[in-house]
Amino acid sequence: MSRNETVKEIAERLSIVDIVAEYVSLRRSGSNFTGLCPFHSEKTPSFNVNPAREIFHCFGCGAGGDVFTFVMKIEGLSFPETVRKLAARAGVAFDEYPATEEEKKLRSEKDLQRKIMLLTAQHYREILTGRQDGEAARNYLLERDVDQETAAAYGLGYAPERRDTLVRLLGNRELPLETAERLGIIRKGEHGWYDLLHHRLVFPIRDTQGQPIGFAGRVLDNSLPKYINSPESPIYHKSNVLFGIDLALREIRQNGTAIIVEGYFDHLTLHSAGIRNVLATCGTALTDGHINLLKKHAQRVCLLFDGDNAGRKATVKAMELCLEQSMPVYVINLPQGEDPDSFIKKNGAEAFNQKAASAKPAFEQFLHWLLNKTPADSIDQRVRLMNEITPRFQLIKDPVERNLYQNEICRLLGIDPNAFRKRVSTQRKDTRPEPHQVNIKPSTCCNVTDVTQETLLGILAAYPEAREKISSFNLAELFDNDYLPIVKAVLDAEAVDGRDTIWHDILSRLEQEHQKALVARLLIQDRYLAEIDWRTALTQCLKSREKARTRELKPIAARLATLPQDSEEYLEVLKYAEQLRNRKSTL
Ligand code: GTP
Ligand code: MN
Repeated sequence: MSRNETVKEIAERLSIVDIVAEYVSLRRSGSNFTGLCPFHSEKTPSFNVNPAREIFHCFGCGAGGDVFTFVMKIEGLSFPETVRKLAARAGVAFDEYPATEEEKKLRSEKDLQRKIMLLTAQHYREILTGRQDGEAARNYLLERDVDQETAAAYGLGYAPERRDTLVRLLGNRELPLETAERLGIIRKGEHGWYDLLHHRLVFPIRDTQGQPIGFAGRVLDNSLPKYINSPESPIYHKSNVLFGIDLALREIRQNGTAIIVEGYFDHLTLHSAGIRNVLATCGTALTDGHINLLKKHAQRVCLLFDGDNAGRKATVKAMELCLEQSMPVYVINLPQGEDPDSFIKKNGAEAFNQKAASAKPAFEQFLHWLLNKTPADSIDQRVRLMNEITPRFQLIKDPVERNLYQNEICRLLGIDPNAFRKRVSTQRKDTRPEPHQVNIKPSTCCNVTDVTQETLLGILAAYPEAREKISSFNLAELFDNDYLPIVKAVLDAEAVDGRDTIWHDILSRLEQEHQKALVARLLIQDRYLAEIDWRTALTQCLKSREKARTRELKPIAARLATLPQDSEEYLEVLKYAEQLRNRKSTL
């Protein structure tokens, strides 16, 4: 079977409602099912699934597509991985589809990168577990009470004192050192290649599937720097990676809570104490990317940073990010000077679980810290406190929560609720991003919704008679780059029996997520097309599209003025401008 046939076959056998229902609780509502969107946090359902068309669309965050898009997004898989997974589920035989040359190149580069990272992890692991020169690290682990089982779960290793063991290993295997350099695990200096890590305990940083994508190396004594981390690379993007995710995912999904700690060792100690729903930042602050990752798997976040000033600062920053993205966020408080590692060692897992169970909402904790530092005992102080509180308070979305906090803040600060409300609404303009900008992240290209082009697209798919007519135009002129691939998919798609089938085929021809999302949005909203006289609409659309194009003339004239008149580009632009001008005169 060709790739397209495979995809089609899978889609025909599976019901999107069944698949989505495994992750989202759905209710029937007219011809759609609705539920709370799993891709952004919301209190009222704006997530729609249309069983007839086998698509989903969220009006809240714009996510949308077919069953493949859904599984890709929610499981964090690539398209081929998703096809493989769903093929198994649908009982469709799946042979790797033939890839294009570019895909092949990309894939073999990726394979190579994976291979090198795996080999590197194994190399460090072998030295730690079996070799003479791993002794220092073995002793260090003993000292820190890390048992062998835990060390194995993390794939811990040791980078020996010599600075060329990895370089030599890769050389012996005839693996390209340049690729390893791009991965950040070796470097090139004046005297040739050398390893990034040496004489350090090695923590592999792994993705959700457990594939190593980076390494962190800790010294075995008190020297500095304590950690050296491999840098960002084609496969390692720090703002999207949380340490320990491969070990924590199952528990996080079951439990709903993700505990976030700062240190690799904190993670390790909690894990070996049986607390598994834990993730660690890899020496960087929490980012939006992390929150997005968390949202895929967790219902709430529990921050567990150091009890010092820096830890509190990091906690408040992380709280802001979570509130902005409507991710419920709590704080676990440990006694001053303790980190999870030391706390568990002293008090045991049970005591930790109690602490975790009494985690405070982060905003409440924030107020508490703030008032401890700056008591509300003078007017001056209260004003200062309000300046700290207001921008964060504004991030709270839930009206009930807002109201409760408002009462609490007014009580603590001795402020009149009316004055508070006024302050909050006046300060809003300067500090708070528009609510929509927070949640709705338009996909990379289709950020401008072009009503005309979308109407044309809708007509094209809904009315087979219109297809022939529209195909007779120069498509590249009618549609811009965002829509063109979709239009091509529409024209290539085969209408078997009625328009739902054709949409289905269109979706299976599109691979890019934002394109599928766009099509899904059109599908959910296309009822208006039913009453449309497509010929009139087509004429109107064509006209307004032409007009839009002639509007481009102005900037083109400006561009021409900047180009040397004998350049090739000048001639190109000139030719284009002529075409536009001619067309304008016929309107
Ligand atoms: P122990 O002190 O051995 O328990 O290690 P830890 O992993 O708990 O580290 P610590 O609490 O000191 O720091 C928290 C995290 O910050 C570490 O896990 C690292 O991710 C990061 N970090 C700490 N020191 C350094 C450093 O010197 N360089 C870099 N890049 N990151 C560091
Ligand atoms: Mn620590």
